Amino acid sequence: METTTCSHLLGLVVISFILVPPRACGVADTFSKGRNITDNETIVSANGAFTMGFFSPGVSTKRYLGIWFTSPINDNSGVLMVSDTGSLLLLDGSGRIAWSSNSSSTSPVEATLLGIGNLVVRNPGSTTALWHSFAHPSNVMLSGMKVGKDFSSGDEWYLTSWRSAADPSPGAFRRVLDTSGRPDNIVWQGSVKTFRSGPWDGVRFGGIPEVLAYQQGLLEYQMVISPREGTYGHNVKPGAAATYVVLTDTGEVRRLVWDASSRAWQTTYLGPRDVCDAYGKCGAFNLCNVSAAAAAFCGCIRGFGLTSPSRIAGRCQRNVALNCAAGGVGPVSGVKLPDTPNVSVDTGITVEECRARCLANCSCLAYAAADISAGGDGRGCIMWTDHLLDMRYVDRGQDLYLRLAESELPPPPPLALPPPPPPSRSRAFPTGPFIGAVGSLVGILLVAFLVLVVIRRCRRRRPSNTGPTTPDGFIQHTTPAPTVPSSELSSLKKATGDFSESNIIGRGGFGIVYEPSMKLFHSSEVRVAFFQDGGSI
Ligand SMILES: *[C@@H]1O[C@H](CO)[C@@H](O)[C@H](O)[C@H]1NC(C)=O
Ligand SMILES: *[C@@H]1O[C@H](CO)[C@@H](O)[C@H](O)[C@H]1NC(C)=O
Ligand SMILES: *[C@@H]1O[C@H](CO)[C@@H](O)[C@H](O)[C@H]1NC(C)=O
Ligand SMILES: *[C@@H]1O[C@H](CO)[C@@H](O)[C@H](O)[C@H]1NC(C)=O
Ligand SMILES: *[C@@H]1O[C@H](CO)[C@@H](O)[C@H](O)[C@H]1NC(C)=O
Ligand SMILES: *[C@@H]1O[C@H](CO)[C@@H](O)[C@H](O)[C@H]1NC(C)=O
Repeated sequence: METTTCSHLLGLVVISFILVPPRACGVADTFSKGRNITDNETIVSANGAFTMGFFSPGVSTKRYLGIWFTSPINDNSGVLMVSDTGSLLLLDGSGRIAWSSNSSSTSPVEATLLGIGNLVVRNPGSTTALWHSFAHPSNVMLSGMKVGKDFSSGDEWYLTSWRSAADPSPGAFRRVLDTSGRPDNIVWQGSVKTFRSGPWDGVRFGGIPEVLAYQQGLLEYQMVISPREGTYGHNVKPGAAATYVVLTDTGEVRRLVWDASSRAWQTTYLGPRDVCDAYGKCGAFNLCNVSAAAAAFCGCIRGFGLTSPSRIAGRCQRNVALNCAAGGVGPVSGVKLPDTPNVSVDTGITVEECRARCLANCSCLAYAAADISAGGDGRGCIMWTDHLLDMRYVDRGQDLYLRLAESELPPPPPLALPPPPPPSRSRAFPTGPFIGAVGSLVGILLVAFLVLVVIRRCRRRRPSNTGPTTPDGFIQHTTPAPTVPSSELSSLKKATGDFSESNIIGRGGFGIVYEPSMKLFHSSEVRVAFFQDGGSI
């Protein structure tokens, strides 16, 4: 949405680097007391992938300390040094401490820029970090970094956007791993949620089917959900291309992957991707369908209708009051599951047990499997009891099971079904051979097939089903279809080519800040930043 502005700003950033050719001199990957890093110097990780030094993003005249993929730097008066007490100190021209890592040690310490882009302060020979930059993320998530919470210490790590493309100070957006329900990446603008990636389903974040296109060959998610911590990160697989996630100053989340053949960063995911990704676009008990006409994105889920008589758009209420003792559940298929801050989660039970638990609890509105990594119906239980908010159709989305009054339940399948749906790979049913082989049994087999269809309908469909699905579960929609068409990926690639961002980065570099501690020196002129340059990868 902001692409024009964005590429414009990025362009400025690059031009400034092109006009100011690298003058810095690279030193080893480690420095310690007695070896200062001045503004005209850089330090380079042993594998050459990352460089750290001073820079000015865009048209900014201020100086920042950054970690990036190559070394375009001009000179000025900042100094990075190791203090007597084991801290990393950033001094401005007047010798004032602009920032300190506050690490302390009675033994000598050294700072090393590791090959993964992490700057580590430690005692020589020790593997224990006194301080490391990965524990202070800015707007970039690199391989090996993690975000989330340490419940015992209270520490929390999250991404913070830049204020603008030329100003790495903390901007309006944060991307926080919400661990209160099922882990979900929430983008906040102040106290307002703007976008979420969908709850973790054991494999990925459910609202981002795009990852399936590259997850397997490229990276592994590291999700830790324990009483001690709730964190996640990604590790690039050995030999795979470099990749990172950035939260832009306009609140967009991008995953970029280095493409060695074009020597450029390719955007493989960009969110929010459309109107249905805008958080809570449609209000509670709505389902957003991005393929619908402009005014009709939102529609009430099965069993719910617009409030009469005013029929206020988005205000969906139950058509028929729920009688707790009766009723049942009906599926809503292929969705990004509703927001999960107030759910109860039990990963230790089966989906059948979840269903029984929901039907036995009058405050249960809906349930879904918590983990679909093992395939089939999945395992575990997410149970919603207050609202169902921020739901949309999504390619390979999950199935949500809604508590419904008896009269709202999907009708039992009629006996004279139209020809059976074409068997898809994931739902193959061996009708063909039988019918072909014994013609006289066709009638019997058809009945058997119908029985099986009924049984299958009562069960949960495979989460990764991409074949045709039945229209159960919705009021307005009769032909469920993936709503993030895979063509979007290719058009995204085309679009990013048009941004010319990838070209720009391939040539020179632009900044993504990696700030150890941005709030400490809001008035200072020096910040620690991570930014990228395609050149040396
Ligand atoms: C490092 O910088 C500090 C502050 O400018 C200065 O006091 C110190 O002498 C410098 N050390 C070296 C080895 O240059
Ligand atoms: C960097 O600048 C300082 C002072 O401006 C100078 O003493 C030093 O030699 C320079 N270092 C390099 C590597 O150019
Ligand atoms: C370091 O200590 C100073 C003084 O106590 C404090 O103001 C600052 O926030 C600390 N910095 C970090 C990175 O914790
Ligand atoms: C129903 O579910 C809610 C939310 O998980 C829970 O707090 C409540 O205790 C349950 N009620 C019964 C009767 O199990
Ligand atoms: C979660 O519960 C809080 C407090 O009851 C409420 O304000 C909030 O709207 C709920 N969130 C969702 C997404 O239902
Ligand atoms: C979304 O809306 C379009 C256009 O009305 C419709 O063809 C499609 O079936 C809908 N998708 C779903 C999943 O209902």
